[in-house]
Amino acid sequence: MSHYSFDHVVNRKQTQSVKWDKTDTFFGSSDVLPLWVADMDFLAPPDVLNALQERVNHGVFGYSATSSETSSALTQWLQRKHQWSVNEDSIVYSPGIVFAISMAIQAFTKQGDHILIQSPVYTPFFEMVKLNDRQVVENPLHLKDDRYEIDFTDLEEKLANDIKLMILCSPHNPVGRVWTREELTKIAALCIKYNVLLLSDEIHSDLIYQSHKHIPISSLDDQIAKQTITCVAPSKTFNIPGLQASAIIIPNEQLREAYNKQQQKQGFFTLNTFGIIAIEAAYRKGDAWLNDLLLYLEENVKLVESFIQSKLPDLRVIKPEGTYLMWIDFRNLNMTDEQFNHLLLHKGKVAVEPGTKYGENGSGFVRLNIACPRSTLLEGLERIERALST
Ligand SMILES: Cc1ncc(COP(=O)(O)O)c(C=O)c1O
Repeated sequence: MSHYSFDHVVNRKQTQSVKWDKTDTFFGSSDVLPLWVADMDFLAPPDVLNALQERVNHGVFGYSATSSETSSALTQWLQRKHQWSVNEDSIVYSPGIVFAISMAIQAFTKQGDHILIQSPVYTPFFEMVKLNDRQVVENPLHLKDDRYEIDFTDLEEKLANDIKLMILCSPHNPVGRVWTREELTKIAALCIKYNVLLLSDEIHSDLIYQSHKHIPISSLDDQIAKQTITCVAPSKTFNIPGLQASAIIIPNEQLREAYNKQQQKQGFFTLNTFGIIAIEAAYRKGDAWLNDLLLYLEENVKLVESFIQSKLPDLRVIKPEGTYLMWIDFRNLNMTDEQFNHLLLHKGKVAVEPGTKYGENGSGFVRLNIACPRSTLLEGLERIERALST
């Protein structure tokens, strides 16, 4: 029995929620069950809520600064959860990971430079490269026996050919892979061999299912740490992305200074008050809540698997090793992406993310967000069933 009420349904409508209040803008309909944007429909951990409430009660919201309290909360978390020793001096705070990706692109590459990403992958990886007038080079992942794998021959060919930056999604959104030590070691070796700077987006790294283990690529050895920028945040883990607080870990002093300067050039110097409070409370006191959350999410994964197996056997689930996102294969239905998404939206009245948002090789798939009370998830699955009924 969980101490926390993940079954409790919170009404998120009219709370400035992108997921619940903006389906009209993104899907052309406000009458849909939203299982799209990657945030959770759960309350944040009680210790985080209490800390924020205490701060609100104080009532003065002047300029705020992170301190050694903030950084030690993070470094101790990274040590405890991922056995990664990070020096507090290596941390640069950032309002968000997408912002940080754009800052790194601007700080370390030039217009026209080639940046490698592994599709299908989180849409802003493409967008930040293109908006900064750099060029996307894809190392497409391959689906083999219901699991995505890296094509290392293709990766080496591309890294050898003038790639300035590789953006790794670890764990991977949307395909749910938690990269193994062996895979990460190979990626690191190639980045070192071809002198490619690595940005490892580890925003999902605390959301790992049993029998898998997240390894921060920068923790492998000093050599790869020297050319890696790692992005972490309590935002996905504790459902506080609206507080906009992330941390960028850059052990190499020269790179860190260049990165920091890029952020400062945009006029960004410090996090907002609530972000700082939340980082400290979540990383110091969030362990038990996270353990229970993961058990709840794992049951949600099982619900989706059994529902699809028994009621929608033409769909296939790519079982996630981490993240609360499920990647679902509808290619057996012989429908186009437009047909499938139209049915889900207009007949089923359920909003999921079209796979094509994540690159051309996302065609034939959709991404389902399962971080909601089980009753909501079941309602979503029944809507998908209704959409596909004849
Ligand atoms: C891989 C990945 N990176 C970054 C983000 C967003 O990060 P932020 O809100 O800090 O910009 C997401 C959100 O879904 C994500 O999946």
